[in-house]
Amino acid sequence: MASQGKQSKHVSLALLVACWFVLLSSCKANPISNTEAEALLKWKQSLPDQPILKSWVAHTNSSASSPCKWRGITCNNEGSITEINLAYAGLRGNLQNLDFSSFPNLLHLDLRENKLTGPIPTNIGTLSKLQYLDLSVNSLNGSLPLSLANLTQLFDLGVSRNNITGELDRRLFPDGTSLSKTGFLSLKNFALQYTELGGRIPEEIGNLKYLVQLLLDANYFCGPIPPSIGNLSDLTTLSLGLNELSGKIPVSIGTLKLTDLSLLINRLSGSVPEEIGNLSSLVNLQLALNNFTGQLPQQVCQGGKLVNFTASFNNFTGPIPVSLKNCRTLYRVRLEHNQLTGYIDQDFGVYPNLTYIELSYNRLRGKLSPNWGQCQNLTALKLAGNMISGQIPKEIVQLSKMGFLDLSSNQLSGEIPAKIGKLSKLLKLILKDNKFSGEVPAGIGGLSNLETLDLSINMLGGPIPDQIGDCWKLQSLSLSKNYLNGTIPYQIANLRALQDLDLSFNSLMGGIPSWLGSLLDLEYLNLSNNNLNDSVPTSLGSMVSLISINLSNNNLEGPLPEGKIFWSATPEAFSNNKDLCGEIQGLRPCNASVKKKGGGNMKGKLVIIIVASFVGALSLSIMSVGIFLFLEKKLSRNMLKDEGTSKTENPFLIWYFDGNTMFEEIVEASENFDDKYCIGVGGTAKVYKVEIPGAQVFAVKKLRSMAEGTETENIKCFTNEVAALTKIRHRNIVKLLGFCFQEVHSFLVYEFMERGSLADMLCSKEGAKELDWATRVGVVKGVAYALFYMHHDCVPPIIHRDISSKNILLSPNLEAYVSDFGIAKFLKPDSSNWTTIAGTYGYLAPELTYTMAVTEKCDVYSFGVLVLEVLMGKHPGELITNLHSSIGTSVPLKDVLDDRLPPPRNQKIADELALMQNLSLSCLCTNPQSRPTMRNVCRQLEIQVANN
Ligand SMILES: *[C@@H]1O[C@H](CO)[C@@H](O)[C@H](O)[C@H]1NC(C)=O
Ligand SMILES: *[C@@H]1O[C@H](CO)[C@@H](O)[C@H](O)[C@H]1NC(C)=O
Ligand SMILES: *[C@@H]1O[C@H](CO)[C@@H](O)[C@H](O)[C@H]1NC(C)=O
Ligand SMILES: *[C@@H]1O[C@H](CO)[C@@H](O)[C@H](O)[C@H]1NC(C)=O
Ligand SMILES: *[C@@H]1O[C@H](CO)[C@@H](O)[C@H](O)[C@H]1NC(C)=O
Repeated sequence: MASQGKQSKHVSLALLVACWFVLLSSCKANPISNTEAEALLKWKQSLPDQPILKSWVAHTNSSASSPCKWRGITCNNEGSITEINLAYAGLRGNLQNLDFSSFPNLLHLDLRENKLTGPIPTNIGTLSKLQYLDLSVNSLNGSLPLSLANLTQLFDLGVSRNNITGELDRRLFPDGTSLSKTGFLSLKNFALQYTELGGRIPEEIGNLKYLVQLLLDANYFCGPIPPSIGNLSDLTTLSLGLNELSGKIPVSIGTLKLTDLSLLINRLSGSVPEEIGNLSSLVNLQLALNNFTGQLPQQVCQGGKLVNFTASFNNFTGPIPVSLKNCRTLYRVRLEHNQLTGYIDQDFGVYPNLTYIELSYNRLRGKLSPNWGQCQNLTALKLAGNMISGQIPKEIVQLSKMGFLDLSSNQLSGEIPAKIGKLSKLLKLILKDNKFSGEVPAGIGGLSNLETLDLSINMLGGPIPDQIGDCWKLQSLSLSKNYLNGTIPYQIANLRALQDLDLSFNSLMGGIPSWLGSLLDLEYLNLSNNNLNDSVPTSLGSMVSLISINLSNNNLEGPLPEGKIFWSATPEAFSNNKDLCGEIQGLRPCNASVKKKGGGNMKGKLVIIIVASFVGALSLSIMSVGIFLFLEKKLSRNMLKDEGTSKTENPFLIWYFDGNTMFEEIVEASENFDDKYCIGVGGTAKVYKVEIPGAQVFAVKKLRSMAEGTETENIKCFTNEVAALTKIRHRNIVKLLGFCFQEVHSFLVYEFMERGSLADMLCSKEGAKELDWATRVGVVKGVAYALFYMHHDCVPPIIHRDISSKNILLSPNLEAYVSDFGIAKFLKPDSSNWTTIAGTYGYLAPELTYTMAVTEKCDVYSFGVLVLEVLMGKHPGELITNLHSSIGTSVPLKDVLDDRLPPPRNQKIADELALMQNLSLSCLCTNPQSRPTMRNVCRQLEIQVANN
């Protein structure tokens, strides 16, 4: 046993020695790998410290530091590096200190999707064996080094989505504004202003004779496409889109074996060489958004493989390519906004794979062929702005996947197919500006996913069908400029998502239904030019989302309702009626004895019905039922919108917008709520700025994780805010876009207000200057309207309890938005409204220090402080105490106004400021009963405007 043990020890010792020997000898035979390791370490040293390179360390116990086991490194049998692969590694730094000449055997260099900056070093040209080079999706700038031409073994070269020759960008926009790479049309404008400055694709690229893929898209290359690309006889993919290339497409490109050719969004011009039709392997051809003229290559689908073809937004003329007719492989086609001619029934065939086709704004004629009904995978058919005539073939209703049908601005006639409702996936149906006649078919009610319906400018008659109420997701409904008659069907009250309702220029009769007031999301209402009679229902006064109303040219009479929209609309909105009265210009003042009619409390009823059915349907035990009582329509709408995945997986993920992946995207875009995105910290939550590529920028308010204690208080704030904000919607209240309530992450998603808070603006000298007097008047009014709405239009009323300049956010136009409803309170009539003290010191109503009774007058007090703060440019501080002690003394306006601004020159503004000062003093009365209500405040602010 013992000897056996000894023996095995010997053996392993021998092995060890052997290993050492091999290692040493291989190192001796290959001093290269030492240099390679040193080169990598030297590079590492020049980079910011990052975990990804943790394994890159010299072995202390040996002069031979083999890098072969380091992360991302691969060696050949001789221990020399052949591959560096650090793609998608979050690598930061630049390439300046990477000595490429130290890697004579490197075949493969992949640094795709990192955060590398700076130029591509010239000595990259020394990697003479390199076959694969991918530097895409970084922030590299400078020009492409000419030395790349020495990498003659390359078959794959990718530098997409960088800032190559990006210094041009800065030269063009010295003020630092940068070009948005996503703005399709803004780029087009940009191109118009552009003057050529250099930064070309080097002609020498033609030396890389084995290239199969060349990806240079989304950079800042300009000048012509080098004709030498025609030498790259193995090239299959050429991607040059999203640059600033100009000139013509070199004819030589037509001699290649390309499968993918993308030139979209450049400034290329001239005609597209007919030789492109020789590319018999072509699968993808993207020519959109250039300045091409002449004909499209007629043989573009000669090889029978074309899948995606775009040529939109150019100046192409001539016929639709003949080879498209039988091109059954087509998947996506966009040719809109050209001057193409042809016949829609003769030039197109049947395409079993086609999902999207847009031919809008060309000069196509002919009729819609029944063949379209056989393109079973079509989700979008857009043919607007042509000269298409005839009827809609009934076969079109077989397109069961259709989501977007736009046939507007053509010469279509006949009736809308009775079975249109079979297109149950349809989101948008736009038939405006044609010659359709007959009635709006009752079958329209089958379009239960429809969001936009535009049948305006046709010759439709008869009544609006009741079934319209079944299109319950409608956001925009326009039936304007037809010959519709009858009354406005009450089923429209079902359309709880409606934002835009235009029934103008018809022959509608009867009264304006009072239930219109229950459409809480409605922003645009146009009922003008009909035969509507009776009075305007008072319920319309409480439609706080309304931005525009037009009731002119009807037979309306009686008083206008009270409400912001009626105080601020122009007189034309009510002109040419029978006998309307009210306190706006152009109308006679109302006789006090005339009683207001209409306006039953339909709103309340609808809410109760909806709430009841949802509480019945969902058992949501984690959150208190009380909270969900307020989720009303938003809950119902979105639960159904997300019926796909998220509903079953996570019942608490309720998005106000489409897209089931938003939750993941937010977590990802904020790198799991990394502090670097944090823009604010509060007691119970942190706020992050989250930018989702291709979408909006959001402010995401994340509740401190529940493990961190004080759970119930935090959850209360969170649910309070959700409850308050899902219930309300107002132009001056920050929009809640979605929320997520979960064990790991609970957060609220808001629109991002880029100008930050009023407090911050007033603090800085530049900010204060930018907030001129007119703007400040607007800010005060905005806050007043929001509070008016919360106190008087919400049932039960909502008290914010924390109005302060920190919680007023500003939009890009410097409009005020009330935010932070964390401690908002619903005033319940049948329960005591006692509470613990909360709010911001300096804005708290004095009664709160000796009684805990909350009334809306607490907000009025804080509003008073805020108004003074806006006038003075700083918190009034002492001044308030002085006001309280010396009753009756008034401070002259000029002593109050912010001296960083010149005194107001405009008399109207000066008057408004004086009024605001007076109002603020009454808001600051110690006795809550003596303070005005927000209704009073708003009326006074409006009357001031109307008198001038
Ligand atoms: C490109 O450069 C501009 C400034 O020239 C900069 O604003 C932008 O963020 C850069 N883009 C990338 C992807 O690095
Ligand atoms: C390419 O390599 C040759 C010889 O190795 C050298 O002379 C030349 O300068 C290199 N070209 C570039 C542009 O680096
Ligand atoms: C497009 O080409 C026309 C002439 O062919 C020229 O007048 C126009 O300026 C060009 N537009 C752009 C954006 O380059
Ligand atoms: C098309 O050409 C006309 C003149 O021929 C020009 O005014 C127009 O800007 C061009 N359109 C585009 C998209 O370049
Ligand atoms: C065609 O375009 C679609 C959508 O843009 C894309 O998903 C698809 O990969 C493309 N097909 C080919 C063959 O490139």
